[in-house]
Amino acid sequence: MRLVRPSIEWEKEHQDYAAEWGSSRMVPSSYSLDGHESYKDYLNALATREKGNDHWLPSSNYFLVNDQDRVLAMVDIRHDLNDFLFNVGGHIGYSVRPSERRKGYATLILAEALKKCKKLKIDRVLVTCDEDNIGSANTILNNGGIEDKSFPEEDGNVKRRFWIENR
Ligand SMILES: CC(C)(COP(=O)(O)OP(=O)(O)OC[C@H]1O[C@@H](n2cnc3c(N)ncnc32)[C@H](O)[C@@H]1OP(=O)(O)O)[C@@H](O)C(=O)NCCC(=O)NCCS
Repeated sequence: MRLVRPSIEWEKEHQDYAAEWGSSRMVPSSYSLDGHESYKDYLNALATREKGNDHWLPSSNYFLVNDQDRVLAMVDIRHDLNDFLFNVGGHIGYSVRPSERRKGYATLILAEALKKCKKLKIDRVLVTCDEDNIGSANTILNNGGIEDKSFPEEDGNVKRRFWIENR
């Protein structure tokens, strides 16, 4: 099991993951293939987004891959927080492919992401989830999350917010 960076060799695996995911909005959004003419275009757009610009803060993206080179999960690490990330998005977003859920992979990819955060010197990591996302809340608690105030979004959705001490 290892973290790898999105690159051309993962094109088919990434497309399979997206197909399994279906039509709902991809989580994390950095992995959405929508609107890109080719996988190369997607990778270029991701590289631009990761560097940061007016809209996106700098970030790092990794797949969790097993020994059979199957992509099991995805993570997006944002290197800093703006107002939106402080209230809603947090430092880290992740997902596990539907056929691989309830096997501990979210807990594992968050643990691996925290190691990457340590290298980035992010020593207090904010991770959030929707109020009804019990699997994600348990993933965060499994990694030492301490709950802070929730944030009510304009559409009525409530985000639970947790800090993880990462020293
Ligand atoms: C939420 C998600 C990441 C969980 O992934 P996962 O690999 O199934 O999680 P894990 O196997 O590591 O499970 C973590 C804990 O949550 C529990 N859990 C997982 N899914 C659950 C569910 N649907 N209902 C209740 N508990 C659940 C597990 O039993 C485990 O608890 P335990 O450690 O006490 O045994 C996955 O369902 C997913 O990708 N969902 C869509 C995207 C998403 O919501 N991402 C998070 C954004 S905040």
